[in-house]
Amino acid sequence: MDSILVKGNGALNGVIPIAGAKNACLALMPATLLSEEPLTLTNAPRLSDIATMTQLLQSLGAEVAGLQEGKVLALSSLGPINHVADYEIVRKMRASNLVLGPLLAREGHAVVSLPGGCAIGARPMDLHIHGLEALGAEIELKDGYLHAKAKGGKLRGAQMTLRMASVGATENIMMAATLAKGTTVINNAAREPEIVDLAQCLRKMGAQIDGEGSSRIEIQGVDRLGGATHQVVTDRIELGTYMLAPAICGGEVELLGGRMHLVAAFAEKLDQAGVSVTETEAGLKVSRKGGRIRAVDVTTEPFPGFPTDLQAQMMALLCTAEGTSVLEEKIFENRFMHAPELLRMGAQIEVHGGTATVKGVEKLRGARVMATDLRASVSLILAGLAAEGETVVSRVYHLDRGYERVEEKFRGIGAHIERIKA
Ligand code: UD1
Repeated sequence: MDSILVKGNGALNGVIPIAGAKNACLALMPATLLSEEPLTLTNAPRLSDIATMTQLLQSLGAEVAGLQEGKVLALSSLGPINHVADYEIVRKMRASNLVLGPLLAREGHAVVSLPGGCAIGARPMDLHIHGLEALGAEIELKDGYLHAKAKGGKLRGAQMTLRMASVGATENIMMAATLAKGTTVINNAAREPEIVDLAQCLRKMGAQIDGEGSSRIEIQGVDRLGGATHQVVTDRIELGTYMLAPAICGGEVELLGGRMHLVAAFAEKLDQAGVSVTETEAGLKVSRKGGRIRAVDVTTEPFPGFPTDLQAQMMALLCTAEGTSVLEEKIFENRFMHAPELLRMGAQIEVHGGTATVKGVEKLRGARVMATDLRASVSLILAGLAAEGETVVSRVYHLDRGYERVEEKFRGIGAHIERIKA
C-alpha cells in the first residue's frame, strides 16, 4: 500500500482548482437508471469512488464512459437493466446504496447488498428503507441483501418525516419518487448542496421537484424522465480541506470555484480562529490574519451547520491553536480515529464519547502515522505540513477515494509532499 511523505516547510502560497463534488457525483450517476436517455455529467471528479460507482452501474447494465480524462461522464441506461447490486462492488462504498431508489422506481424491484464504506459508525439504512416502504415498497433483508419490490409493480407517492435529516436517504427517496404515481413530501429532508444539485439535475431530466435546499421537498411523480447535461457542483469538502492549508501553515491560497455559501459555517469558525476568507470572482481567497491560530469550539451538524466531513481536518488546525478547543461530533458516533494518530505527532487531545478536547501546542512533530478513513487521512497530511520534520502517512488508499491528484494540488502551493509507492 502506498504512503505519503510530508515535510513541514513554512508558508503555502498559490492557487488550487477545486474539483466537482464526489458526494454530488455519486448521487447524480445512479440517476441514469431513471431514464432510457443519455445523462452527461461535466466537472466530474477523478476519484476511485467514482470508478467504483461506474463499475456498479456497468454491472447493472448501464453504459458509463469517461471523456476528457474522466472529467465528463457519459451515462446511458437504454438496455435491459439487471436489478441485482452485488456485494463485491457494493461493499467498497456506502454510496452504492444510492442505486436502490432508482432501480426500484424503474424496474419495480431491486436486490442490493448492504454497503460498506468508511468505518466511522454504524451507518444503518433504516431511513432509506422506511422511506421507500412509505412509497409502497416491500423490503426484506436476506443473506446480507435488501430485496425490495414495489407493491403492484409501481411506487406511489406518500408523505413522510425522516427521523434524521439523512443525506443518502433523502437522495434515494427523492430519486424513487420522481417516477412514483402521485405526490411525495419528504419532511426533515437533508438540505446539503449535493441534494440541491441532484434535484436540479433531475428537474432537467423532466422531474417535478420543489423545495430542495429546505427541509420540505415535494415531488410530483411523472411517467418518464428524459436525458440531461449537468455540471457537478463544487466539492465543498475538498474546498474546506485546502482552505485549511494556509490556515495551518500561513501564506495565502486562492481556491478556484469555491463559493462562500458552500462553506459558510466553516468559514465563520475559521474567522473566529484568526483566518481570513474572502470571496473573489474566481473563488475564495484564504490567509492567516497574523499571529497564532486561536482556539474555537466546533459542533458538527447537518448542513448548513459545520460539516462532519471537515471535523478531522479542523482538529489538525486546532492542535496548533492558542488555547483549548472542544469539538463535538454529532453526526457519527466513531469519528475521532485521527486523534490517536495526531497524538503521535505531539498533539494534546482527550476524547470522551463524542467530544474531543484539544489543547493547542506550539508545534507538532513529524511522525509515522496511519490513515484510518478518508477525511482522517487528509487531516494527517495537513498536520504534517505544519509539523517539524517528516511525517509518513500510511494506508493512503482512503485518500484516493476522495481527493483527486492530492500531491499535485498541495505541491502547486509549495508544499513538500510525495507518494511512496508500495
Ligand atoms: C453522506 C456523505 C458523507 C457525510 C454524511 C453526513 C455521501 C456519499 N456521503 O453520507 O460524506 O459524512 O452524508 O454529512 O454523500 N443514518 C441512520 N439511518 C439511515 C441513514 C443514516 O441512522 O438509514 C444515520 C447515520 O448513521 C449517521 C447520520 O444518519 O449517523 C447521517 O448519515 P447520512 O446523512 O445518511 O450520511 P450518508 O448519506 O451515508
